[in-house]
Amino acid sequence: MPMTRRKSIALIGGGIVLAATAAAGVRVMRKPQTATDPWETAGTGDDPRLTALSYAILAPSAHNLQPWLAKLEDDGSLTILQNQDLRLPQVDPLGRQHFIGMGCFIELLSMAFAEQGLNSEIQLFPDAETSPDNPVATVTLTDGATADPLFAHVLDRRTNRAAYDMALEVPPDAILGIEGSAEGAQTVHEPELLDLLRELTLEAMLTEANTEAPALETIENMRIGARQIDASPDGIALRGPAIEAMAASGLLSQESLSKLSGTAHEASLKTYRDAFPATPAYLWFATGQNERADQIAAGRAWVRMHLAATAYGLSVQPVSQSLEEYEEMTPYRERVHELLAPGGARIQMLGRLGFGPETPPSPRWPVEAKLI
Ligand SMILES: Cc1cc2nc3c(=O)[nH]c(=O)nc-3n(C[C@H](O)[C@H](O)[C@H](O)COP(=O)(O)O)c2cc1C
Repeated sequence: MPMTRRKSIALIGGGIVLAATAAAGVRVMRKPQTATDPWETAGTGDDPRLTALSYAILAPSAHNLQPWLAKLEDDGSLTILQNQDLRLPQVDPLGRQHFIGMGCFIELLSMAFAEQGLNSEIQLFPDAETSPDNPVATVTLTDGATADPLFAHVLDRRTNRAAYDMALEVPPDAILGIEGSAEGAQTVHEPELLDLLRELTLEAMLTEANTEAPALETIENMRIGARQIDASPDGIALRGPAIEAMAASGLLSQESLSKLSGTAHEASLKTYRDAFPATPAYLWFATGQNERADQIAAGRAWVRMHLAATAYGLSVQPVSQSLEEYEEMTPYRERVHELLAPGGARIQMLGRLGFGPETPPSPRWPVEAKLI
């Protein structure tokens, strides 16, 4: 169901937007021109490794920073590296989410090879993780792979930050499908636990949005309006007529959002207050240890869970704040572990699950930008 214009305006704060629209003129109709092209061109490439990479770059990553790099080796193998500069020191001080994103990328890569009949033998950290320049993985290919049914949903997977329909429960077969998509995949649908999680995830989100260092880091990584999105097809894209109108009138900018007591900031908090309580279920994934290999394994599992949800027409939004390691999140992190994983496992990913409105694909740098 496409989001109506009226609804999207309400989402970012009512009256201000209507006042801004008149001033904005034609700019409000602007859409990103090139930023989402990689979703259209996926599957092309004259080398099976480039074809696989064209899908892998559609993986989710924290703040959509796309920290992956790839090197095509002369012997037909592939080396995967990370861009150390694309970390988020404030919200992700230990680089945990950074490596979960790398895991999501590796899983899509391996699925895209399997789609071409190729098995990927993946060796993690072949030279140990002693330097950020060391490879994250090497991928050696052999024939005879079987395709993965979840691959069919790679192009339809979206992070959906809207309110979900509270009248529509997540059907039992979808729960089974998500829990069966990766070993250790979990969902939450008990009413009391859901109430606690809705409150906890929203409180953690509001705390993060009102804590200067992480809030400013997130705002820095926002791309506001079609121009910024096309110029740098990464980060969190704010788009649509209401955004263009507010940006054109100067009400919405990195600067206005950075005033943590200002109107633009308040409007952004309203989007969380509207969306987070409208969450009919959650999905999550934990690991026994919390080493780099565990984080990569969590990313591999997570993207499978998200694809399984997509297969049932369900929407997903990771809500990572309560899992984060900076000081202000400590009480939330302890509480979410008490609720979901009292046995000592590390929750790596937690997400909202339900039926949401249609949402467009997010921006991506093309494969060529990620080759070394
Ligand atoms: C480790 C990790 C943490 C994430 N945390 C959040 C989050 O807290 N809130 C959110 O809205 N999206 C979160 N995301 C989703 C990314 O923002 C999203 O994948 C990215 O913007 C690309 O969009 P896409 O998933 O629609 O392709 C997270 C993704 C990953 C891999």
